[in-house]
Amino acid sequence: MCGTVGMFVGCSALSYCPRSLLAAHTAGPPDDGARIPAGEEDGSGEKYRSAFHTWYERASVRQAPRRTVAEGDTALRFFSPDLVPVAHHPLVKALPEPVFDQILVQHLYRYLDFTAKLEYLVVNRTLVGIAHGSTGVRLPQEMRFDALKMYCDEAYHALSAVDLMRQVEQRTGIRPRLPDEPFFLRRLQQILAKLPADERGLAELLFVIVSETLISASLAEIPDSDGLVPAVRESIRDHAADEGRHHAYFAAFLRHLWGQLSTAERQFAGRLVPQLMDAFLLPDLESLRAELTGYGLSKEQVEQVVGEVYTPEVLSRHSRATSRMTRRYLDQLGAFDDPRAQAELHAHGYAS
Ligand SMILES: [Fe+2]
Ligand SMILES: [Fe+2]
Repeated sequence: MCGTVGMFVGCSALSYCPRSLLAAHTAGPPDDGARIPAGEEDGSGEKYRSAFHTWYERASVRQAPRRTVAEGDTALRFFSPDLVPVAHHPLVKALPEPVFDQILVQHLYRYLDFTAKLEYLVVNRTLVGIAHGSTGVRLPQEMRFDALKMYCDEAYHALSAVDLMRQVEQRTGIRPRLPDEPFFLRRLQQILAKLPADERGLAELLFVIVSETLISASLAEIPDSDGLVPAVRESIRDHAADEGRHHAYFAAFLRHLWGQLSTAERQFAGRLVPQLMDAFLLPDLESLRAELTGYGLSKEQVEQVVGEVYTPEVLSRHSRATSRMTRRYLDQLGAFDDPRAQAELHAHGYAS
């Protein structure tokens, strides 16, 4: 253990000590012993170009106002029905208007809960490791400094998400129906649990790379709809602006990491990434079923809604579209050249 993990007592279920995994394989000493000045190459074959030069002026945590839900906002939608797949199903459309509105509110709660826990339970664990120099990946000094800026960004995204959820509950009186753990976290823990202990650190690093390069595509889906509660729209817009910079950073981080992995680790990464993309992208159908049942739909009707809305084709199409850039970055590095990685892509619906 590098000593970083102990600070995150809430994350004990995840194993994260990339230093112990990678330090054994990297050609040089760990990065706290190999400080690479800004702009110099670290063996990845590229110079780091920071996307954070204007961070103090542009980051949401530095310049965005608190997004507040006004009393009159309860007449508006709390999430766009266009982005709530079950809202299109005739059995759901036929539900009374207050129930339909509640489905949108619960969708918002799920989204905000996902965001907050992704940020403070997973992404910020990795960012503090990068900033602290304990991931085992040798990086230019400026990349480590930029990780601290993202650490602030992600903490603010978590704060904004929880703040918004509390405000919506206060305004609407609708209590969140949320699982104890978001689906992505359960899926990630299941994936990590199946891996040998010495591969879990790299797997978690890969999950953060995957999620940080996927999330901007997810946020780009939120439309600029007039009928949406302004605080929801503005909060998502704030997040999307920050994540554009994070996307660029983690695309570069992937190349730096890749240059320091052994052939076996690269093959491992290529095989694992399709599962990690699924962990991030697949919907929590179990909790959705429980929620729909709570609105008075019969078990058969719930199965009909879920079965007709979330067909394998629909899920695969969405996953492929959202992960296009992430797969491209990995493909350019040859991550999917191995036939076993190709088979995993195919098995998880990512083969085009
Ligand atoms: Fe974020
Ligand atoms: Fe991020």
